[in-house]
Amino acid sequence: MLIDLDRMNHNIDMLAKSVGPDKTYRVVVKSLPSVELVRHVMARANTRALMLFHQPFVNVVADTFPDSDVLLGKPMPVSAAETFYKKFSFQPEFDPATQLQWLIDSSERLAQYQGLARRLGVRMKVNLEIDVGLHRGGLPEPEAVTPLLKTIQDDPSHLTLGGLMGYEPHLTGLAANLDHESVKSVLSVYRGFIDKTKDSGIDVSRLTLNGAGSHTLGIYEKDNTMNDLSAGSGVVKPLDFDTYHLRDNQPALFIGTPILKRYDYLPLGGNMGKTLSAWDPNRRRLYYVYGGYWKARYVSPSSVPDAFYHSTNQEPVSTSESVDIKVDDYMFLRPTQSEHVMLQFGDLLVVNDSAIANQWPVFRETG
Ligand SMILES: Cc1ncc(COP(=O)(O)O)c(C=O)c1O
Repeated sequence: MLIDLDRMNHNIDMLAKSVGPDKTYRVVVKSLPSVELVRHVMARANTRALMLFHQPFVNVVADTFPDSDVLLGKPMPVSAAETFYKKFSFQPEFDPATQLQWLIDSSERLAQYQGLARRLGVRMKVNLEIDVGLHRGGLPEPEAVTPLLKTIQDDPSHLTLGGLMGYEPHLTGLAANLDHESVKSVLSVYRGFIDKTKDSGIDVSRLTLNGAGSHTLGIYEKDNTMNDLSAGSGVVKPLDFDTYHLRDNQPALFIGTPILKRYDYLPLGGNMGKTLSAWDPNRRRLYYVYGGYWKARYVSPSSVPDAFYHSTNQEPVSTSESVDIKVDDYMFLRPTQSEHVMLQFGDLLVVNDSAIANQWPVFRETG
């Protein structure tokens, strides 16, 4: 798995510029699952804000980035939160009470977290997931925040409010600006939640008002409703991220796989191979590559169609006669997404000036 350093740096700069100096750029760690990769993005974008989605990563991040500011991107079962505190070494550098925001999507979950905080004798910072139109859970309307805010305000030794999180990937792909009806709707619903929070006497200027993702972050350059915008995948721009607001970002993530075998005809029984080759010019040569069946598409050599059939061991790739590469040469693929595919290989190989400049291990689950 290769990362092109120059292209990635360009992408980080584009995202950071789009967020601008007045808002926080929050790095979505699930989409960049490597400590060294995350460290690089944080340094280049000059941010300490991270969004996490997986319990073991929370402990890894607390130990590795003691200066970070962490927001959970999905609500964790309370048992997962408990696991964090059990494994956490309570070293003075990372203070969960101020640097870690647990995502809460309902009164029931808040009650569970409050119970845990009381049992452990800790103060937990919570961020409320709000539904701004995606309908993937979260508080359904602004009025719903009021009872949760009361619970938080009534128990200051165990709970504090970190902010709100309203994700809106249903805007993905739209050539949308701030005048677009769907964007206006998201922002007006978001503002409704902010107003209800203010009604409870809370100073919202101190809160993390998070939203966006790689596909949509570019929409908000000139809007200040949210002060904290997330993006991960746009840093390496897998295929599914060839969308409108990332049009100036560049593909930076590739799988390189060696050719194991080559046939200059389609080696199928009877006349099958000949018939297929006559009918389809992309079925005149057959290569077997090392591995396969990834969430990815062949991009080099160009015009290589998808696998002839899928195999995770040795995948056959049929091509036209114009694809003339040897055994031990490489084919390259572009993953459709980063978060899962990046974890299927060993270290990430960071390519700079046509040479491998670095090897970055990917996240491993720890016990
Ligand atoms: C809550 C939340 N925020 C932001 C993101 C954006 O991540 P990315 O930029 O990798 O698409 C996601 C992706 O799933 C998400 O669930």
